[in-house]
Amino acid sequence: MSSQKPLNVGLVGYGFMGRTHSNAYGKVNQFFDLDRRPVLKAVCGRNESNVKAFAERWGYQSTETDWRNLLSRSDIDLVDIATPNDSHAEIAIAAAKAGKMVMCEKPLGRNPTEATRMVAAIESAGTPNMVWYNYRRVPAVMLGKQIVDEGRLGKIFHYRAKFLQDWTISKDLPQGGAGLWRLDANVSGSGVTGDLLAHCIDTAMWLNGPIQSVTGVTETFVMERHHNLTGKVERVTIDDASAFLARFDNGALATFEATRYARGHKALYTLEINGENASIFWDLHDLHRLHYFDHRDEGRLRGWRSLHVTDGDHPYMKHWWVPGLQIGYEHTFIHQVADFLEGLRTGRPAAPTFRDALATDLVTDAVLRSATSGRWETVGRG
Ligand SMILES: NC(=O)c1ccc[n+]([C@@H]2O[C@H](COP(=O)([O-])OP(=O)(O)OC[C@H]3O[C@@H](n4cnc5c(N)ncnc54)[C@H](O)[C@@H]3O)[C@@H](O)[C@H]2O)c1
Repeated sequence: MSSQKPLNVGLVGYGFMGRTHSNAYGKVNQFFDLDRRPVLKAVCGRNESNVKAFAERWGYQSTETDWRNLLSRSDIDLVDIATPNDSHAEIAIAAAKAGKMVMCEKPLGRNPTEATRMVAAIESAGTPNMVWYNYRRVPAVMLGKQIVDEGRLGKIFHYRAKFLQDWTISKDLPQGGAGLWRLDANVSGSGVTGDLLAHCIDTAMWLNGPIQSVTGVTETFVMERHHNLTGKVERVTIDDASAFLARFDNGALATFEATRYARGHKALYTLEINGENASIFWDLHDLHRLHYFDHRDEGRLRGWRSLHVTDGDHPYMKHWWVPGLQIGYEHTFIHQVADFLEGLRTGRPAAPTFRDALATDLVTDAVLRSATSGRWETVGRG
């Protein structure tokens, strides 16, 4: 018998993120010393045979076909929402009211109204909560955070982020339904602004503080697509591409860009910060490296350093293999669960909480407002 107190997980949704989360719950205690142990108590999905097959493959003890049943169970401590964005608010608010801890996929809501209601519900329940902005927990990105917090960059002038993909270029790609709900704004809330830029914005505000104002443009390159659920050709309601300028509270200027029309790029998330003394650069396609330039280095030897973030004194890395051996995407979710469980022990909530994630929704909202108004828009404060 394990001496660790069980944390009974009820997962809703068993697609892409359902798999990354399940993998994280299964691995976390093998690599981190924690006093809680996630137990895969139940998984919920609407199709009974599919959800049973998922439960068997991943080791869930039981299944549900309606998330309401999951919430009414006294043997569930944590509700994990890995469904498309249109169900985040309803499930999270009900789960909070049922007194559950809630972990929710990003973006928190489809818009700030939903996200604000979610924050109110979870804060009035007073239960632990977190949103899966997993890129904060790439060791190289966390090292970047340490470097910024130590003041090594000096005054920060520029923040630059991109998230580029190319999977929706074909006009024949339908919208709606499994996997393609991202192309239907009724379900997703928005296109690349809420999907891809939300990641960039979350990391940016974590590294460089609040964003004050934005001015953006969006474009929809393919205006009509077959809709899988209605069977008709329907207007496309998402933004296919989005770019914006931003001004941070600390005076830094920023550029952000995301698209699903950048031929050749699959998930090219890059970020760069330029300060008075030093700069950092990171690239998801080479995620275990952080590039660092320090102007205070001796002139003859000055240049960009490519840090291979795999040593025992790098963030999270002492829990893994030996120096020099890198880890990958799935580990960011394991780190996030480890930090959440450690937050339960210490009573210091691991971030990003629902409230932190609301701040991101408020920026994406301002970007979309600006794309319509053609003006600079002030970012709302939650
Ligand atoms: N953190 C990240 O990097 C990251 C990456 C991808 C997706 N996401 C987010 O994760 C969420 C899910 O995305 P995905 O890529 O896993 O989608 P997906 O389409 O692969 O999976 C969604 C799952 O939810 C299920 N589902 C839908 N409605 C349901 C309901 N009412 N009750 C129960 N199950 C329901 C579907 O059957 C499916 O199993 C989205 O909010 C998305 O934005 C985050």
